[in-house]
Amino acid sequence: MGEYTASVVGGTGFTGGELLRLLNGHPEFDVVQATSRSKANKTVGHSHPNLRGMDLRFSDPDDLESVDVLFAATPHGVSMEQIDEFQDAAGTVVDLSADFRLDTEAQYDEWYDGHTRPELLAESEYALPELNRENLEGADLIASGGCNATATIMGLLPLFEHDVLDGSEQVVVDVKVGSSEGGAGGGEASSHPERSGVVRPYAPTGHRHEAEIEQFLGIDVSFTVHAVEMIRGASATCHVFPNGPVSKGDLWKAYRGSYEDEPFVELVAGGGGVYRYPEPKAVAGTNKAEVGFELDPSNKRVVVFSAIDNMMKGSAGQAVHAANVALGLDETAGLDFQGLHPVGAP
Ligand SMILES: NC(=O)c1ccc[n+]([C@@H]2O[C@H](COP(=O)([O-])OP(=O)(O)OC[C@H]3O[C@@H](n4cnc5c(N)ncnc54)[C@H](OP(=O)(O)O)[C@@H]3O)[C@@H](O)[C@H]2O)c1
Repeated sequence: MGEYTASVVGGTGFTGGELLRLLNGHPEFDVVQATSRSKANKTVGHSHPNLRGMDLRFSDPDDLESVDVLFAATPHGVSMEQIDEFQDAAGTVVDLSADFRLDTEAQYDEWYDGHTRPELLAESEYALPELNRENLEGADLIASGGCNATATIMGLLPLFEHDVLDGSEQVVVDVKVGSSEGGAGGGEASSHPERSGVVRPYAPTGHRHEAEIEQFLGIDVSFTVHAVEMIRGASATCHVFPNGPVSKGDLWKAYRGSYEDEPFVELVAGGGGVYRYPEPKAVAGTNKAEVGFELDPSNKRVVVFSAIDNMMKGSAGQAVHAANVALGLDETAGLDFQGLHPVGAP
């Protein structure tokens, strides 16, 4: 028996399935409810074949059970509408959507379709522990980050934490992301015949995750996302143009300084073998971020790479990691496992 009870609203979805997988193996959590409006009474294994054998059936989200932690894995807009019900049901709410990631109503007006509960924005904490660990302790409303934003922030954060950049520099980010980002009902663009073989720029400008990156790093980024033929994974390549000279030593100092003690970050920067830079395939199914960099010989450009699993470090894994921090548990509880190798296109 775990010490804490948990529920997953939106349990049939892709990130809901990942939450159920993680919480089912978590030593401190018992999953007592997973909701679905379309599959009520079906077993969780009906939607998630990897979870066959888990003794849990979907129930209606109108009948929320009282739990310690409620994870909401629902589309944008649902949590802000139902936050009162969620908070009545649980002491801690971890939302995987974009509903509570940004700080102000004006940002939601600019990047989304406004916000119905703007007074709660000041209370919510961004879930990425590498960025916001201190504020997560004891938090009761937590917003898990966007996957493309998470990959980008993980890549660039050390350069700001260690003053290699001051925010005035030009930063160009190109993210390649897998089809599971679109969720279980991904639609035409993510259907197999349409997705297969593509390297499709789907958000050349104006991607909503730009708002999160700018909010947390304090920079203007030129941000573009490509849909590629992966199922899992987000790979960010960030071209950074520093104002003055930067050495390899400066970069190692910054990245080691930020990430040496982080349990879920691997520095992969050069070295030998086939996988010399961050690779989404290597972290598929795990809560790890691989981060690496290279210095252009001209000394005028730093290239930063970051690879995550969009549904894990980019969503469900980050959410469970943040809940661990919020509750004062061992941060790695339920998340401390390696990925697979070799593996097919994840
Ligand atoms: N996929 C990713 O890689 C990823 C990464 C980062 C963040 N996110 C965010 O995480 C959230 C979930 O994403 P996903 O990819 O898991 O989506 P998904 O696969 O489409 O799943 C959505 C889930 O929400 C339920 N749902 C839909 N409308 C609802 C409502 N009004 N009330 C209650 N439940 C409702 C659906 O089940 P029923 O219709 O049966 O109730 C389903 O279980 C989204 O906000 C997404 O932006 C996703």
